[in-house]
Amino acid sequence: MSAPPEIPGFHHVSMTIGDPDRSLRFWTDVLGLHRWDSPPPADPAPAPVSTPAPDPGEARFLVADADGSPGSIVELVHAPEAPSGRWGVGGIHHVALGTEDRPALLRWKRRLEDRKFPVSGPYDRGYFHSIYFRDPDGHVMEIATRGPGYDVDEPADALGERFIEADAHEGRLREQRDEESIQTTSHPEPVDEIDGEMVLRGIHHITGITDDLAEADRFHRFLLGLPLVKRTVNQDDGKTKHWFWARYDGREVAPRSAMTLFGWPGSDYRGRDGRGATRHVAWRIPDHALDDWHVHLETEGISVVGPVDRGFTRSLSFRAPDGLVVHLATDGPGLAERALESTPSSDHTESP
Ligand SMILES: [Fe+2]
Ligand SMILES: [Fe+2]
Repeated sequence: MSAPPEIPGFHHVSMTIGDPDRSLRFWTDVLGLHRWDSPPPADPAPAPVSTPAPDPGEARFLVADADGSPGSIVELVHAPEAPSGRWGVGGIHHVALGTEDRPALLRWKRRLEDRKFPVSGPYDRGYFHSIYFRDPDGHVMEIATRGPGYDVDEPADALGERFIEADAHEGRLREQRDEESIQTTSHPEPVDEIDGEMVLRGIHHITGITDDLAEADRFHRFLLGLPLVKRTVNQDDGKTKHWFWARYDGREVAPRSAMTLFGWPGSDYRGRDGRGATRHVAWRIPDHALDDWHVHLETEGISVVGPVDRGFTRSLSFRAPDGLVVHLATDGPGLAERALESTPSSDHTESP
Protein backbone atom coordinates (compact mmCIF):
# COMPACT_ATOMS: atom_id res chain seq x y z
CA MET A 1 0.00 0.00 0.00
CA SER A 2 1.28 3.47 -0.80
CA ALA A 3 1.61 5.97 2.04
CA PRO A 4 -1.63 7.82 2.71
CA PRO A 5 -1.84 11.51 1.68
CA GLU A 6 -0.15 14.05 3.93
CA ILE A 7 -2.00 15.67 6.78
CA PRO A 8 -2.21 19.41 5.99
CA GLY A 9 -2.94 20.51 9.56
CA PHE A 10 -5.57 20.49 12.26
CA HIS A 11 -9.26 19.95 11.55
CA HIS A 12 -10.77 20.78 14.96
CA VAL A 13 -10.27 20.58 18.67
CA SER A 14 -12.92 19.32 21.06
CA MET A 15 -13.38 20.66 24.59
CA THR A 16 -15.72 19.84 27.45
CA ILE A 17 -17.85 22.66 28.84
CA GLY A 18 -20.22 23.01 31.78
CA ASP A 19 -22.55 25.79 30.61
CA PRO A 20 -23.34 26.24 26.90
CA ASP A 21 -24.81 29.76 27.24
CA ARG A 22 -21.74 30.98 29.05
CA SER A 23 -19.31 29.27 26.65
CA LEU A 24 -21.09 30.42 23.49
CA ARG A 25 -21.10 34.00 24.77
CA PHE A 26 -17.36 33.69 25.30
CA TRP A 27 -16.55 32.10 21.93
CA THR A 28 -18.85 34.28 19.84
CA ASP A 29 -19.30 37.61 21.66
CA VAL A 30 -15.81 37.88 23.16
CA LEU A 31 -13.60 35.95 20.71
CA GLY A 32 -15.71 36.72 17.62
CA LEU A 33 -16.00 33.19 16.27
CA HIS A 34 -19.17 32.14 14.45
CA ARG A 35 -21.56 29.48 15.54
CA TRP A 36 -22.25 26.76 12.98
CA ASP A 37 -24.50 23.76 12.76
CA SER A 38 -23.52 20.27 11.77
CA PRO A 39 -25.50 18.39 9.14
CA PRO A 40 -26.99 15.23 10.67
CA PRO A 41 -25.00 12.03 10.06
CA ALA A 42 -25.91 10.69 6.62
CA ASP A 43 -25.41 7.10 7.56
CA PRO A 44 -27.79 6.00 10.30
CA ALA A 45 -26.21 2.53 10.39
CA PRO A 46 -25.24 1.44 13.91
CA ALA A 47 -21.75 2.36 14.93
CA PRO A 48 -19.20 -0.47 15.23
CA VAL A 49 -19.53 -2.36 18.49
CA SER A 50 -16.25 -0.95 19.70
CA THR A 51 -17.64 2.59 19.57
CA PRO A 52 -18.95 3.69 22.94
CA ALA A 53 -22.62 4.66 22.75
CA PRO A 54 -23.20 8.42 22.58
CA ASP A 55 -24.22 9.87 25.89
CA PRO A 56 -27.68 11.34 25.36
CA GLY A 57 -26.95 13.96 28.01
CA GLU A 58 -24.16 15.50 25.96
CA ALA A 59 -24.92 18.26 23.48
CA ARG A 60 -22.38 19.51 20.96
CA PHE A 61 -21.87 23.07 19.73
CA LEU A 62 -19.56 24.13 16.92
CA VAL A 63 -17.80 27.46 16.51
CA ALA A 64 -15.38 28.37 13.72
CA ASP A 65 -14.18 31.24 11.56
CA ALA A 66 -16.50 33.08 9.13
CA ASP A 67 -15.94 30.38 6.48
CA GLY A 68 -16.29 27.41 8.80
CA SER A 69 -12.93 26.22 7.53
CA PRO A 70 -11.06 23.15 8.79
CA GLY A 71 -8.43 24.15 11.31
CA SER A 72 -10.65 26.84 12.79
CA ILE A 73 -13.34 24.58 14.22
CA VAL A 74 -13.80 24.24 17.98
CA GLU A 75 -16.26 21.63 19.17
CA LEU A 76 -17.77 22.38 22.57
CA VAL A 77 -19.30 19.38 24.26
CA HIS A 78 -21.70 20.05 27.10
CA ALA A 79 -21.18 17.33 29.70
CA PRO A 80 -23.13 18.52 32.73
CA GLU A 81 -22.17 15.52 34.83
CA ALA A 82 -18.46 15.62 34.02
CA PRO A 83 -16.00 16.37 36.82
CA SER A 84 -13.55 19.18 36.22
CA GLY A 85 -10.71 18.14 33.98
CA ARG A 86 -7.04 18.93 34.34
CA TRP A 87 -3.94 18.93 32.21
CA GLY A 88 -1.21 16.35 32.71
CA VAL A 89 0.46 13.48 30.85
CA GLY A 90 -1.71 12.39 27.92
CA GLY A 91 -3.68 15.62 28.05
CA ILE A 92 -3.63 19.04 26.44
CA HIS A 93 -2.11 21.93 28.36
CA HIS A 94 -3.42 24.77 26.18
CA VAL A 95 -4.90 25.64 22.80
CA ALA A 96 -3.52 28.65 20.88
CA LEU A 97 -5.51 30.61 18.31
CA GLY A 98 -3.76 32.77 15.71
CA THR A 99 -3.89 36.53 15.21
CA GLU A 100 -1.90 38.78 12.88
CA ASP A 101 0.69 40.70 14.87
CA ARG A 102 1.70 42.20 18.20
CA PRO A 103 -0.54 45.32 17.97
CA ALA A 104 -3.50 42.98 17.37
CA LEU A 105 -2.38 40.89 20.34
CA LEU A 106 -2.39 43.97 22.58
CA ARG A 107 -5.90 44.82 21.42
CA TRP A 108 -6.95 41.27 22.35
CA LYS A 109 -5.42 41.73 25.78
CA ARG A 110 -7.37 44.94 26.35
CA ARG A 111 -10.60 43.43 25.03
CA LEU A 112 -10.31 40.33 27.25
CA GLU A 113 -9.33 42.22 30.39
CA ASP A 114 -12.15 44.73 29.95
CA ARG A 115 -14.48 41.70 29.90
CA LYS A 116 -13.00 40.32 33.13
CA PHE A 117 -10.78 37.64 31.64
CA PRO A 118 -7.37 38.13 33.27
CA VAL A 119 -4.52 37.97 30.75
CA SER A 120 -0.82 37.22 31.17
CA GLY A 121 1.67 38.44 28.60
CA PRO A 122 2.35 39.64 25.96
CA TYR A 123 5.38 37.35 25.92
CA ASP A 124 7.98 37.25 23.21
CA ARG A 125 8.32 33.50 22.57
CA GLY A 126 10.86 34.02 19.81
CA TYR A 127 8.83 32.15 17.21
CA PHE A 128 5.70 34.22 17.96
CA HIS A 129 4.28 36.58 20.58
CA SER A 130 1.58 35.32 22.93
CA ILE A 131 -0.99 36.16 25.56
CA TYR A 132 -2.63 33.63 27.89
CA PHE A 133 -6.00 33.55 29.61
CA ARG A 134 -8.64 31.00 30.61
CA ASP A 135 -12.02 30.21 29.10
CA PRO A 136 -15.05 30.24 31.43
CA ASP A 137 -14.41 26.59 32.40
CA GLY A 138 -10.77 27.25 33.20
CA HIS A 139 -9.23 25.86 30.01
CA VAL A 140 -5.89 27.57 29.35
CA MET A 141 -6.05 29.49 26.07
CA GLU A 142 -3.40 31.41 24.16
CA ILE A 143 -3.55 33.90 21.30
CA ALA A 144 -0.35 33.90 19.25
CA THR A 145 0.96 36.02 16.37
CA ARG A 146 1.74 34.70 12.91
CA GLY A 147 5.46 35.55 13.04
CA PRO A 148 8.39 35.86 13.36
CA GLY A 149 8.34 32.10 12.60
CA TYR A 150 10.42 29.06 13.45
CA ASP A 151 13.57 30.07 11.58
CA VAL A 152 14.73 32.70 14.09
CA ASP A 153 17.17 30.31 15.76
CA GLU A 154 17.98 27.73 13.07
CA PRO A 155 17.93 27.73 9.27
CA ALA A 156 14.49 27.47 7.60
CA ASP A 157 15.63 24.38 5.70
CA ALA A 158 16.91 22.58 8.82
CA LEU A 159 14.17 23.04 11.41
CA GLY A 160 14.27 20.57 14.25
CA GLU A 161 17.71 19.24 13.37
CA ARG A 162 19.50 20.53 16.43
CA PHE A 163 18.51 21.00 20.04
CA ILE A 164 17.98 24.69 20.87
CA GLU A 165 19.45 25.26 24.34
CA ALA A 166 17.91 27.57 26.94
CA ASP A 167 20.72 30.10 26.27
CA ALA A 168 19.21 30.76 22.86
CA HIS A 169 16.17 32.20 24.66
CA GLU A 170 18.31 34.79 26.47
CA GLY A 171 16.07 37.59 27.76
CA ARG A 172 12.89 35.54 27.26
CA LEU A 173 13.33 33.06 30.13
CA ARG A 174 11.02 33.64 33.07
CA GLU A 175 13.63 34.96 35.52
CA GLN A 176 15.00 37.36 32.91
CA ARG A 177 11.67 38.91 31.97
CA ASP A 178 10.43 42.22 33.29
CA GLU A 179 7.02 40.89 34.35
CA GLU A 180 5.89 44.23 35.68
CA SER A 181 6.35 46.00 32.39
CA ILE A 182 4.88 43.00 30.50
CA GLN A 183 1.75 43.03 32.64
CA THR A 184 1.22 46.77 32.24
CA THR A 185 1.65 46.61 28.46
CA SER A 186 -1.73 46.78 26.78
CA HIS A 187 -3.74 48.70 24.24
CA PRO A 188 -4.54 52.21 25.53
CA GLU A 189 -8.23 52.24 24.60
CA PRO A 190 -11.23 49.92 24.91
CA VAL A 191 -11.61 47.53 21.97
CA ASP A 192 -15.27 47.06 21.13
CA GLU A 193 -14.76 45.88 17.55
CA ILE A 194 -12.68 42.92 16.39
CA ASP A 195 -10.85 44.46 13.44
CA GLY A 196 -9.39 42.63 10.46
CA GLU A 197 -5.93 42.17 12.00
CA MET A 198 -7.40 40.80 15.21
CA VAL A 199 -9.71 38.23 13.63
CA LEU A 200 -8.74 34.82 14.97
CA ARG A 201 -7.28 32.63 12.24
CA GLY A 202 -7.91 29.19 13.59
CA ILE A 203 -5.71 26.89 15.64
CA HIS A 204 -2.19 28.34 15.79
CA HIS A 205 -0.84 25.44 17.84
CA ILE A 206 -1.94 22.93 20.45
CA THR A 207 0.34 22.07 23.36
CA GLY A 208 0.08 18.90 25.38
CA ILE A 209 2.15 16.93 27.86
CA THR A 210 3.78 13.57 27.30
CA ASP A 211 5.95 11.33 29.45
CA ASP A 212 7.92 10.11 26.44
CA LEU A 213 9.03 12.55 23.75
CA ALA A 214 10.81 9.86 21.74
CA GLU A 215 7.59 7.81 21.51
CA ALA A 216 5.64 10.97 20.68
CA ASP A 217 8.16 11.71 17.95
CA ARG A 218 7.70 8.26 16.41
CA PHE A 219 3.92 8.77 16.58
CA HIS A 220 3.88 12.22 14.93
CA ARG A 221 6.73 11.76 12.49
CA PHE A 222 6.43 8.17 11.33
CA LEU A 223 2.77 7.35 11.92
CA LEU A 224 1.16 10.70 11.05
CA GLY A 225 3.94 11.99 8.78
CA LEU A 226 4.35 15.33 10.57
CA PRO A 227 7.96 16.53 10.64
CA LEU A 228 9.69 17.49 13.89
CA VAL A 229 10.35 21.23 13.47
CA LYS A 230 11.68 22.37 16.83
CA ARG A 231 13.45 20.83 19.81
CA THR A 232 13.94 23.26 22.62
CA VAL A 233 13.00 23.97 26.26
CA ASN A 234 9.98 25.57 27.89
CA GLN A 235 10.94 29.23 28.33
CA ASP A 236 8.90 29.40 31.54
CA ASP A 237 11.29 27.11 33.40
CA GLY A 238 14.29 26.86 31.06
CA LYS A 239 14.43 23.08 31.59
CA THR A 240 11.36 21.14 30.48
CA LYS A 241 11.93 19.82 26.99
CA HIS A 242 9.52 21.29 24.44
CA TRP A 243 9.23 19.71 20.97
CA PHE A 244 7.15 20.84 17.98
CA TRP A 245 5.76 18.90 15.01
CA ALA A 246 4.05 20.54 12.04
CA ARG A 247 3.33 20.31 8.34
CA TYR A 248 6.67 21.55 6.99
CA ASP A 249 7.86 21.47 3.40
CA GLY A 250 11.53 22.17 4.20
CA ARG A 251 11.03 25.93 3.84
CA GLU A 252 7.94 26.90 5.82
CA VAL A 253 5.72 25.64 8.59
CA ALA A 254 2.09 25.63 7.48
CA PRO A 255 -0.37 27.67 9.55
CA ARG A 256 -2.81 25.68 11.71
CA SER A 257 -0.49 22.68 11.88
CA ALA A 258 1.79 22.90 14.94
CA MET A 259 1.45 20.33 17.71
CA THR A 260 3.83 20.90 20.60
CA LEU A 261 4.53 18.75 23.64
CA PHE A 262 6.25 19.28 26.95
CA GLY A 263 8.22 16.22 28.05
CA TRP A 264 7.63 15.02 31.61
CA PRO A 265 9.61 11.76 31.72
CA GLY A 266 8.64 9.47 34.57
CA SER A 267 5.68 11.61 35.60
CA ASP A 268 2.47 9.90 36.64
CA TYR A 269 0.56 13.17 36.87
CA ARG A 270 -2.03 12.23 34.26
CA GLY A 271 -4.37 14.55 32.41
CA ARG A 272 -8.03 14.00 33.22
CA ASP A 273 -11.05 14.44 30.97
CA GLY A 274 -13.72 16.80 32.17
CA ARG A 275 -14.91 20.39 32.15
CA GLY A 276 -12.18 22.80 31.15
CA ALA A 277 -10.13 20.11 29.41
CA THR A 278 -9.56 19.19 25.78
CA ARG A 279 -11.26 15.90 24.80
CA HIS A 280 -9.45 15.24 21.58
CA VAL A 281 -7.36 16.78 18.82
CA ALA A 282 -8.47 16.19 15.22
CA TRP A 283 -6.17 16.34 12.17
CA ARG A 284 -7.47 16.97 8.64
CA ILE A 285 -7.48 14.41 5.87
CA PRO A 286 -9.04 14.57 2.40
CA ASP A 287 -12.34 12.65 2.13
CA HIS A 288 -10.88 10.14 -0.32
CA ALA A 289 -8.03 9.28 2.07
CA LEU A 290 -10.13 7.85 4.87
CA ASP A 291 -9.73 4.21 3.85
CA ASP A 292 -6.00 4.52 3.14
CA TRP A 293 -5.44 6.08 6.54
CA HIS A 294 -7.54 3.42 8.21
CA VAL A 295 -5.46 0.65 6.63
CA HIS A 296 -2.21 2.49 7.38
CA LEU A 297 -3.03 2.89 11.09
CA GLU A 298 -4.14 -0.70 11.52
CA THR A 299 -1.11 -1.99 9.63
CA GLU A 300 1.02 -0.10 12.13
CA GLY A 301 -0.78 -1.88 14.97
CA ILE A 302 -2.96 1.01 16.05
CA SER A 303 -6.39 0.18 17.40
CA VAL A 304 -8.83 2.39 15.50
CA VAL A 305 -12.48 3.19 16.17
CA GLY A 306 -14.41 4.23 13.08
CA PRO A 307 -14.94 5.57 10.60
CA VAL A 308 -17.71 7.32 12.51
CA ASP A 309 -20.09 9.67 10.70
CA ARG A 310 -20.25 12.79 12.83
CA GLY A 311 -22.33 14.84 10.41
CA PHE A 312 -19.85 17.58 9.53
CA THR A 313 -16.98 15.11 9.21
CA ARG A 314 -16.19 11.41 9.16
CA SER A 315 -13.47 10.43 11.53
CA LEU A 316 -11.13 7.74 12.74
CA SER A 317 -10.35 7.75 16.45
CA PHE A 318 -7.30 6.29 18.19
CA ARG A 319 -4.85 7.11 20.95
CA ALA A 320 -1.37 8.59 20.96
CA PRO A 321 1.18 6.53 22.97
CA ASP A 322 0.66 8.73 26.05
CA GLY A 323 -3.13 8.25 25.88
CA LEU A 324 -4.29 11.44 24.13
CA VAL A 325 -7.33 10.80 21.93
CA VAL A 326 -6.53 11.77 18.35
CA HIS A 327 -8.92 11.88 15.40
CA LEU A 328 -8.34 12.00 11.69
CA ALA A 329 -11.29 13.95 10.29
CA THR A 330 -12.38 14.43 6.68
CA ASP A 331 -12.87 17.93 5.27
CA GLY A 332 -16.29 16.93 3.98
CA PRO A 333 -19.21 17.19 4.26
CA GLY A 334 -18.29 20.32 6.24
CA LEU A 335 -20.39 22.53 8.43
CA ALA A 336 -24.02 23.22 7.60
CA GLU A 337 -25.38 26.74 7.52
CA ARG A 338 -24.43 28.95 10.34
CA ALA A 339 -26.77 28.99 13.30
CA LEU A 340 -27.26 32.71 13.79
CA GLU A 341 -29.08 32.62 17.07
CA SER A 342 -26.88 32.07 20.05
CA THR A 343 -29.42 30.14 22.12
CA PRO A 344 -28.06 26.66 22.58
CA SER A 345 -30.17 23.79 21.36
CA SER A 346 -29.63 20.18 22.26
CA ASP A 347 -30.33 18.59 18.90
CA HIS A 348 -26.84 17.19 18.33
CA THR A 349 -25.41 14.46 20.40
CA GLU A 350 -21.75 13.64 20.51
CA SER A 351 -20.34 10.30 19.50
CA PRO A 352 -17.41 10.04 21.88
FE1 LIG B 1 -14.40 15.64 17.22
FE1 LIG C 1 1.60 27.79 23.36
